[in-house]
Amino acid sequence: MKNITITKAEQSKLSELDFDNIPLGKIFTDHMFICDYEDGEWQNPRIEPIKEIGTHPATMALHYGQAIFEGMKATLDSNGIPLLFRPDKNAARLNFSADRMGMPSFPEDLFAEGLKKLVKLESSWIPPQEGSAMYLRPFMYADEHFIGMRAATSYKFIIICSPAGPYFSERIKLFAEKKYIRAATGGTGEAKAAGNYAAAIKPTENAKAKGYNQVLWLDAFEHKYIQEVGTMNIFFKIAGEIITPFRDGNILDGITRMSVIDLLRDKGFEVTERPITIDEVKEASENGSLEEAFGTGTAIGIAYIQEIGTDEGTIHVSDESPVAEDVNDTLNSIKIGTIEDKFSWMVPAE
Ligand code: COI
Repeated sequence: MKNITITKAEQSKLSELDFDNIPLGKIFTDHMFICDYEDGEWQNPRIEPIKEIGTHPATMALHYGQAIFEGMKATLDSNGIPLLFRPDKNAARLNFSADRMGMPSFPEDLFAEGLKKLVKLESSWIPPQEGSAMYLRPFMYADEHFIGMRAATSYKFIIICSPAGPYFSERIKLFAEKKYIRAATGGTGEAKAAGNYAAAIKPTENAKAKGYNQVLWLDAFEHKYIQEVGTMNIFFKIAGEIITPFRDGNILDGITRMSVIDLLRDKGFEVTERPITIDEVKEASENGSLEEAFGTGTAIGIAYIQEIGTDEGTIHVSDESPVAEDVNDTLNSIKIGTIEDKFSWMVPAE
């Protein structure tokens, strides 16, 4: 593995951070990890002061959208040790996305090493309050300057860090979208590609204008099978069974999703990954068997769903989410080391 060089910022901006009032996604730490892909290999991995990355107007990512990203969080345990949650899963998913988008894979050992060194260097930026974390954003984009439709020959892989305060989740409202779609079989739905999010912005703004928080995506052909939510995977509890849409190539392989499935099964719940339609959820709401609905994602954690708007009316969900709350508590406790990490998910950034 290539040696990672570290150049430290002359002056830290940490003293400007108000740990009790951290605006989401707006504050960035002093350093970033950056690595260049040139001549068929990843070169010059380095940690350096965060700065603007020069953008030539012909930068290919701007034109053809070869851009992928990951979302992760670093937390502190009670001894102040920074912990990463299942970083191997993010490294693998980044490379899955890279493959789908015709981009080079990034060495997983270098991903782990770069991430650990960066998080260790920036550990004093991790907010200590329960529920807080330092959000980590690894991403890769085509930075060759070229007009023409082909895979780029040069790329950048970068990790930036952004402290995030505790997320007090209000129950959220979703709108089941039937006009626009997120993913169709053979497309890029399973990749964490920037373009998937770009195409979601207009429908999301439309949903927000109607008073909803996020879009609930349905399948591309019949507009009835539930896929996922704007920034989350989704779970339902219906008559005791916990159901989440199965991975048919159209939904993101969420790391919180897979962890919640493991935790729920460990707690003795039956969890089924299977196709589920919006009509099944509506019927369950009407006959009283829809017990809970919740979303899972790195940024948001676990979000309790209050209602789902459809063109035909509103699907109401119970006001209480005991199972989702319990699994949320367990997940958060694992992340700060206050309960046993029996799945060995946490990796110290040391
Ligand atoms: C995350 O939850 O970390 C994501 O990557 C979703 C993002 C669009 C906020």
